[in-house]
Amino acid sequence: MCGIIGYIGEAVAQPRLVSGLQNLEYRGYDSAGIALVDDDLAVFKRTGLIGDLALPEDSDQTCGIGHTRWSTHGKPTDANAHPHTDCSGRVAVVHNGIIGNYDDLRTELSEHTFRSETDTEVVAHLVEEQLATTDDLRAAVAAVLDRIEGSYALGVVAAGYDGIVAARQNSPLVVGHGGDGTFIASDVTPLLEHTREVSYLEDGDVALLTGTEVTVWNDGAVVERPTQTIQWDADAAEKGGYAHYMLKEIHEQPQALRQAIAGRLDPVEGSVDLDLSLSPAFLSGLDEIQLVACGTSYHACLYGKQLLELLADVRVTVEVASEYTVGRGRTPGRTLVVGVSQSGETADTLRALRMADRTGIRTLGVTNTVGSTIARECDDALYIQAGPEIGVAATKTFASQVVTLALLSVAVADARGELDPSQARTLLEHVEALPGAVQQVLDRESAVIELAEAYAGGDAFFFIGRRMGCPVALEGALKLKEISYDHAEGFPAGELKHGPLALVTEGTPVLAVVTDGARPEETHNNVKEVQSRGAPVIALVSEAAGVEEFEVGFPVPALGVLEPLVANVYLQLFAYHVANVKERPIDKPRNLAKSVTVE
Ligand code: G6P
Repeated sequence: MCGIIGYIGEAVAQPRLVSGLQNLEYRGYDSAGIALVDDDLAVFKRTGLIGDLALPEDSDQTCGIGHTRWSTHGKPTDANAHPHTDCSGRVAVVHNGIIGNYDDLRTELSEHTFRSETDTEVVAHLVEEQLATTDDLRAAVAAVLDRIEGSYALGVVAAGYDGIVAARQNSPLVVGHGGDGTFIASDVTPLLEHTREVSYLEDGDVALLTGTEVTVWNDGAVVERPTQTIQWDADAAEKGGYAHYMLKEIHEQPQALRQAIAGRLDPVEGSVDLDLSLSPAFLSGLDEIQLVACGTSYHACLYGKQLLELLADVRVTVEVASEYTVGRGRTPGRTLVVGVSQSGETADTLRALRMADRTGIRTLGVTNTVGSTIARECDDALYIQAGPEIGVAATKTFASQVVTLALLSVAVADARGELDPSQARTLLEHVEALPGAVQQVLDRESAVIELAEAYAGGDAFFFIGRRMGCPVALEGALKLKEISYDHAEGFPAGELKHGPLALVTEGTPVLAVVTDGARPEETHNNVKEVQSRGAPVIALVSEAAGVEEFEVGFPVPALGVLEPLVANVYLQLFAYHVANVKERPIDKPRNLAKSVTVE
């Protein structure tokens, strides 16, 4: 996730912005920049490290904004680094989030000179237009917010205007109240060296910071945002107060999902826009889509296969990338290979994609990392827009991969003339409701903690599910084994009786996905099979069906074929808290790496 810092006050701004950016480095970044403002605006930005910025040695401005960028729209280049400016070079903007309707706005602003490929730059040009009609920067930004859709934390400055305007919608932004000035930041980490007094902006807030005061408006009226005193140390602050990055990233899922879908879907029309160069003619001529990936991304592909087949009437195969061969009878022009990789650097996935490319087969990379090798080498790249993931065990990127593949399914079905509009509308309504449903599960974390404490002593753990519950069972087991070091296995629920049942005892907790999209009735029968062998069962059950029939049951909000994806959040929390009880090094489990760049 990008990082934002802003300062206005009595002190010289530049050193504060630079140390603020350094304290945001942990979030991951590929470029950085700052804007210093008084009667003029000076912007310094580039790819690479904060230390690489060519900053003046004697700046005296006392107001400025800074940014660390982690690319989502547009490659990591100097031009795409923030802050972004308007045509006149008098307005500067830093932004975290995604402006969903930036394409339309950019078309509308065709008379302006754009210097970057980012979604953010439209904001600078829109503010420029507003400043032609008002000399109130806060009013200008507020008017612009009415025009933009998506998620944002914004910091805006303009030459000759004494103040920083900040705004928040679905992307965190915190205000710091220091002794000699006021700050904005994307989290409290860069503020701690100056102040522990902060207030959190809420969605819809627009704030004006002067050196001495912060005024916040929401819906046109002045509102109070209470000041809180931060007790965290710097290490805890980097993790947003969570004990581990993994837990923070589990909790970031609603926001990551909002980012993955921002500006991409129209549930009323039942359509999506993924900005891919794959033509309808090519997609409708496909005989087969091959999905290739490793680890958690492979499980996302198993889920994605079912969504693609459900909607688009196309044969989809899924292969572990290290086992991939193009296979006989695959014709270039009638086959698409999709490599799914959070990092975009996994050697096995890259090898599979290169192999397909050598045979003339078209490739699509689905990745979280703009500018990664997979993004660069594939014919097309589709970004999951989850923000950086630091914990070795993938969590939020799994959810974002699945939802991105769901959107791809609608796009492919549409291009092939196979789209059932009512099916697409239902799926997209569920996609839109997904962040809220995930939040409901996160709100039940204390019950999962009790569960983890009660079951952490299990000899082994089995996870079962059918249909879309099956990849979630596999993923649940992978999470638990990765970070707790317990023996954990995931199975298609129907396969239990063909072998694994021999291992089931009273000491083997079985976690079952009994939701929509996971053939709940049949899975319920498998639950009874293991219960009759004395195994404790923890069931994740569609809210509509009710949890009463299960000794331990957790409700999953009604969401059709996306219910297993929501159930997965319980499994992530379970794995995390079992590992936490065992005091494992959760963010860096033994023998594992975040990105595996050897075959
Ligand atoms: C490693 C990581 C896993 C990840 C897998 C694939 O094994 O530890 O968490 O799922 O690589 O990574 P990718 O970046 O290709 O999704």
